[in-house]
Amino acid sequence: MGSVIFTKPELAALAALRARFLDGTSAGGGYWKSEAELALYDASFGERIGWKWDAVLAELNARGWRPSAKNIVDWGCGSGIAGRRVLAAWDGFASLTLADVSPLAMRFAESRARENFPALHVRSKSDAADAAAGSLLLVSHVLNEMDDAAAHRLISAARRAEQIIWVEAGTHADSRRLITVREKLLAEFEIIAPCTHAARCGMLAPENAAHWCHHFARVPSEASRDARWSQFGRELGIDMRSLPYSFLVLVRRGAAADFEKQMQGCSRIIGRPRDEKGHFEVLSCGEAGVEDLMAQKRDVPELSKQLRKGRADAVQRWTRDGRRITGAAEE
Ligand SMILES: C[S@@+](CC[C@H](N)C(=O)[O-])C[C@H]1O[C@@H](n2cnc3c(N)ncnc32)[C@H](O)[C@@H]1O
Repeated sequence: MGSVIFTKPELAALAALRARFLDGTSAGGGYWKSEAELALYDASFGERIGWKWDAVLAELNARGWRPSAKNIVDWGCGSGIAGRRVLAAWDGFASLTLADVSPLAMRFAESRARENFPALHVRSKSDAADAAAGSLLLVSHVLNEMDDAAAHRLISAARRAEQIIWVEAGTHADSRRLITVREKLLAEFEIIAPCTHAARCGMLAPENAAHWCHHFARVPSEASRDARWSQFGRELGIDMRSLPYSFLVLVRRGAAADFEKQMQGCSRIIGRPRDEKGHFEVLSCGEAGVEDLMAQKRDVPELSKQLRKGRADAVQRWTRDGRRITGAAEE
């Protein structure tokens, strides 16, 4: 972001954007007013979303997964952060299609993508349903702006994609919306992440209604020391240390058999384990469902150390005695 602090009018514009995102008046999209507003978003809220994408892409890379589709569609592109993060993470793509209800947003995203990836074929399409066929479909922070008809159009387009990477905010509501998408697409797709299994989502069991599938991305250390980011957090009342997200990565059925085998028997840690006296309370999701487990520091000292630092791998292969974790191996 750089260290020059925000001006008063910029802070007011950011506060107005945030209020609109939070109070639901952004429903329907198309609210972008100017290129300057998009640039401001891109350098602030958009960059924070970029850190979530970095977390997702780093996890996929660590598991040895990369998409095979050559054409990317960024649906609800806004300033285009998702497409640019994916293009920076992997090479070999032939084209990027930017789709949004806002022509201003598509133009902005197109010009940023061209600047950063001059050799790539970049285009905008307000209706990208055809472009989605056979593509790597990216969706980022869009679901809570969509009514049922718009969500239906997006899901129909998603059914034609080859692979899908979908990142949403880490709130209860947004995670639950994404779980609905998961259940709808499960017949045609296999899951790369976050699930380690293809059974019905365990969060849908009535006893788990209060839980949601969310994870935390790391804020880069430069940003934690940056005057502009601390001003951003302070003035807008945003906790800069916490970056919750929910996500879903899917591939067309039949394309991930080896990957599924590799994940068999693994569980994913949900949210942030609670540090209690002598142990951690861990919400764990696996094929058997969502379970409250307990990791005693004396049973699993290395895992406890990683949990304390917030650095434990989200995917683990537990050895257990009832609810007690007696051994943990990172996948
Ligand atoms: C919160 S912004 C997120 C932008 C970008 N994907 C990101 O992660 O930074 C939501 C974007 O979705 C767009 N949008 C909302 N409803 C849409 C729809 N039905 N079809 C396409 N785009 C939509 C809005 O115009 C806006 O640009």
